Amino acid sequence: MINIGLMGLGTVGSGVYEIINNRRRFFEDEIGEKIKIKKVLVKNKNKNRNIDIDDKLLTLNPKDILDDPEVDIVIDVLSEKEIAYDYLKYALENKKHVVTANKAVVSSKMEELLYLSKENNKAFLFEASVGGGIPIINSLKQGIKADDIFQIQGILNGTTNYILTKMYEKGICFKDALKDAQDKGYAEADPTDDIKGYDTGRKLAILSTIAYNQPVDSKFINCRGIDEISIEDINEFRKLKLVPKLIGSSQRSDNHIYASVEPLLVKDESFFSNVKDAFNIISLRGYNTGELRFYGQGAGKNPTANSVVLDVLDIVKGTYTNGKVYENRKISGDKYLTFDGE
Ligand code: NDP
Ligand code: HSE
Repeated sequence: MINIGLMGLGTVGSGVYEIINNRRRFFEDEIGEKIKIKKVLVKNKNKNRNIDIDDKLLTLNPKDILDDPEVDIVIDVLSEKEIAYDYLKYALENKKHVVTANKAVVSSKMEELLYLSKENNKAFLFEASVGGGIPIINSLKQGIKADDIFQIQGILNGTTNYILTKMYEKGICFKDALKDAQDKGYAEADPTDDIKGYDTGRKLAILSTIAYNQPVDSKFINCRGIDEISIEDINEFRKLKLVPKLIGSSQRSDNHIYASVEPLLVKDESFFSNVKDAFNIISLRGYNTGELRFYGQGAGKNPTANSVVLDVLDIVKGTYTNGKVYENRKISGDKYLTFDGE
């Protein structure tokens, strides 16, 4: 029996809970091991939840998970980044595998947590931290290893892509489109990080670190968001057959890494312009493969929860790869990149 401590039962957490419970039999047949969610950490036990769960599983005390010797895997889908970092560190030191969806923690503490996971011979996995349901982290760690990636370009934030799509296609104002994205569970608890481009910057830093085999810190990535785009701007773009998209780009050349996040205009018949609503796209360019594109739902309950569960299954099967411990995270420049995606 594999026991899981689930930290967080919001949008993603409830999806994780449901997938693990609904597909329990299938996982058992597939892996030959029972998987059980033993405890669930929440902030408010009395909250009205749209999920069928026994109240006895809920706890307000993280130690009920972190200090329970029977808990094998800790899943972090909390909305608070500072406490999540403390809990994950504690969990690894306490010899528990860790799976997280928290971009803020992964992008700022990747090397420390990978180091701890290595020291304690445990997994530290974060597939859900980038691209929602797109299995991009595992692809980068395993499938594309033979290639030498030199460029990443992508639409990496579902909330802003959803807002821009609704403003462009339906003429909905920014505020209403944001409210809609929040209601759908795409936005962060505080949507500032989505709107100002910081969430994209963090995801770009995570991808760049793994793809270039070199530490990239999101603090040094220049981010411009979509908060200054008005409906009047959008109306002008439409007349010109240009579509605004929030693009994260990074490039490795001559041992330097350049990275930026900014709203750019793409032609309305282009591939990137057709990435709509909360969908994401990640384009990688490598010397062997040329361009590879990864496309799918970049935010939301089920796609993100699916990525979390994939990590859990990798741990249970023993097929996970932690990846390299990166040190001395830095980035060489903050110049804006030109967009050459289509
Ligand atoms: P939600 O706000 O929907 O849920 C957050 C959960 O954390 C809630 O269950 C809340 O408890 C719990 N929580 C918050 N603070 C505390 C605390 N101090 N102690 C105990 N529990 C606490 O967030 P999401 O599910 O949307 O996101 C979770 C994580 O996943 C974040 O790191 C986010 O960046 C990441 N993520 C989210 C995606 C999405 O599409 N939503 C996609 C990819 C990653 P309670 O229910 O009692 O309020
Ligand atoms: N707030 C994030 C987004 C969630 O909108 O992309 C997925 O990481």
